[in-house]
Amino acid sequence: VFSERTAHERTKNRFSLALERARAGGAPILDLTASNPTLVGIPYAPEVARAVSESASVSRYEPVPFGLASARRAIAELWRSRGLEVPEDRVALTASTSEAYAFLFKLFCDAGDEVLVPAPSYPLFEHLAALEGVRLVPYRLGYDGAWFVDPAPLRAALTERTRAVLVVSPNNPTGSYLRRDALFRLAELGLPIISDEVFGEYPLVPDPERARSVLENEDVLVVALDGLSKLAALPQWKLAWMSFAGPGLLVDEALARLELVLDTFLSPSTPIQLALPELLRTRHVAADAIRERLRQNHAALLGACQNSAVSVLPVEGGWYAVLRLPATRTDEEFALSFLERGVLVQPGYFFDFGDDPHVVLSLLTPESSLAEGVGRLVQAVGEST
Ligand SMILES: Cc1ncc(COP(=O)(O)O)c(C=O)c1O
Repeated sequence: VFSERTAHERTKNRFSLALERARAGGAPILDLTASNPTLVGIPYAPEVARAVSESASVSRYEPVPFGLASARRAIAELWRSRGLEVPEDRVALTASTSEAYAFLFKLFCDAGDEVLVPAPSYPLFEHLAALEGVRLVPYRLGYDGAWFVDPAPLRAALTERTRAVLVVSPNNPTGSYLRRDALFRLAELGLPIISDEVFGEYPLVPDPERARSVLENEDVLVVALDGLSKLAALPQWKLAWMSFAGPGLLVDEALARLELVLDTFLSPSTPIQLALPELLRTRHVAADAIRERLRQNHAALLGACQNSAVSVLPVEGGWYAVLRLPATRTDEEFALSFLERGVLVQPGYFFDFGDDPHVVLSLLTPESSLAEGVGRLVQAVGEST
């Protein structure tokens, strides 16, 4: 009686079972995967709570498909502060970027159509696509000391059913930004480009070649995704947005079709939409604290892995770091051995890293846990080689 779309694999993998056992055993675990900003001691501006409680007292409800004009204007102003002009009528609000993906898959794809996704990348894509009946076709990112979008595997992955290309900039978990030349080459494919830019305001190193946003390119239909979840470290308040650019007729058609989808769901809550201008204005308190933590943790990580068998791959931005380990075990075996020493990291296969063993950790982890956990990890790798 149930759909194929919800028939996902439910058997727990070996790593999840080991983690459950370790947790049930009660031994303390240093969690180096912590990436929920509300649980890792990040300070917020006092105005944040005030803005939401004040707007919660507003009893007015205006069911507008694209979101309240005041909130869309605030997003247009955010773009202006980044040097890009995006009219507010090309902005649509959703409750999360996950919801935005679901809506965009409805907009571009019929069941069985294909979307190109980077590998390695965000594991949730698999479920977001499956739930819309969309087939994901991975294109492997190149790596030559830095990660980059390689046009060859992209072209090889194209079929008659390809409907859009996804990019994540900076990517989760490789931390690599989309460069202008790569964006230009992507646009040459002639497909709509959906760009997840939720970590965009967390660069670790400057790079003048970096595209500020996919919206810089108007040759094809482009959609930038962002939201409060990372930008203001407020995932619990559930507000995200899609911004569109490209050839005028295509943008108009996309928005006209999307209107029905948005009108059918009307999901972003009015109080949060009303609070958005204030949440954006005061986001720097939390975001600056996060940037400082990312910087400190990244420096500590580089220091701890120096002269060891663990390589820290270059991080350009975002909240994660990738470690490459010696090819003596699989990444799952390494992650299990770290767990035995009370350290939790994510094995690379969760993100589709391919053959070499990699593990992923969150640079949002509180500093003392990260230093202690990485120390144990480096020691474990040293003893195993
Ligand atoms: C690449 C990427 N996009 C989007 C999100 C989540 O955003 P939202 O909470 O708006 O669905 C995450 C969360 O980790 C992410 O890693």
